[in-house]
Amino acid sequence: MTGGQTGTAAPLEFRNVSKRYPNAETAAIDSLSFTVPAGEVCVLVGPSGCGKTTAMRLVNRMIDLTSGDILIDDKTINGRSTTDLRREIGYVIQHVGLFPHLTIAKNISVVPKLLGWDRKRMNDRAHELLDLIGLPQEMGSRYPSQLSGGQRQRVGVARALAADPPLMLMDEPFGAIDPISRERLQNEFLRLQREIRKTIVFVTHDIDEAIKMGDRIAILREGGQLVQYDTPHHILANPIDDFVARFVGADRGLKRLALTRIDEIRLEDASVARGAGESSTVRSTATLRDALSVMMSDSMRPLLVVDDNGNPTGSVTIELINEALRRDRADERTASSS
Ligand SMILES: Nc1ncnc2c1ncn2[C@@H]1O[C@H](COP(=O)(O)OP(=O)(O)OP(=O)(O)O)[C@@H](O)[C@H]1O
Ligand SMILES: [Mg+2]
Repeated sequence: MTGGQTGTAAPLEFRNVSKRYPNAETAAIDSLSFTVPAGEVCVLVGPSGCGKTTAMRLVNRMIDLTSGDILIDDKTINGRSTTDLRREIGYVIQHVGLFPHLTIAKNISVVPKLLGWDRKRMNDRAHELLDLIGLPQEMGSRYPSQLSGGQRQRVGVARALAADPPLMLMDEPFGAIDPISRERLQNEFLRLQREIRKTIVFVTHDIDEAIKMGDRIAILREGGQLVQYDTPHHILANPIDDFVARFVGADRGLKRLALTRIDEIRLEDASVARGAGESSTVRSTATLRDALSVMMSDSMRPLLVVDDNGNPTGSVTIELINEALRRDRADERTASSS
């Protein structure tokens, strides 16, 4: 892994943004307000046609808003040129949109070229980014058609990162990819983000992807209205209405368990699992959902929790899992009554 990836990140604010397309009867985006803190991933999620792509395109002024304002790093985008904004915003689109007649390295260098970087600087950056996304240098001289879909997707991410933008827009970046590669790309992306800490707006219509990728999730409904904006935990624990409850699904309890690692909760002493006889073990970095699955195949007996070196750190019981679920709901009540 190469250095130089810890560039800046800028906060993004939507302030009462509305967009009505010419001749459209209803607004595509309606009084949308939310703020993404610098370095966080905000996932826009909602049914087809609810305005997710429109919201993204407003940010880099591919289309103009009808009213309201968008601020990047506390500065309005109003009056700024698209070329200027492209310097600050990396954009990854659903079907990647690589130029078929340019090599991978040249594709990655599209924005740097626009910015007038010299050849050496562009080449160095392309090398660095191929490393970062885990592709061999040799691929830099290939053409897009000579890569797999997942590899092209990663090149799309590299291209968006090329000029080290403080803000990234990603519109269903993993939408057109098979489930297995998709999961790998998601995990790689989360690892990359831990390193680069960009502000990212990520669009998906898949709630599971939203829960996995987002620090915060904005749930939109048809007509571009924001229904709920919160952390995945809070949305799962307390969907604001029926629309959100249906959207997150009947298994939201399980989804919440998947968000909590065993080492994040209080554990019983290791003797509890040992006292229950031949107990199964589970890694402390696994989730409560993993723990529950193991328990279900093992008569709900307490599990011995071990660290990465296999040393016991405690026991997890069904009562503790229950307690974690109840505590989330109690947190919600306190939060909403204060
Ligand atoms: N250029 C346009 N002119 C007129 N209407 C448009 C235009 N682009 C989008 N729309 C309309 O605006 C609404 C929002 O579209 P948008 O593409 O933002 O939805 P989306 O949430 O991204 O949907 P999907 O999940 O299918 O990609 C839709 O009703 C769409 O038909
Ligand atoms: Mg879209």
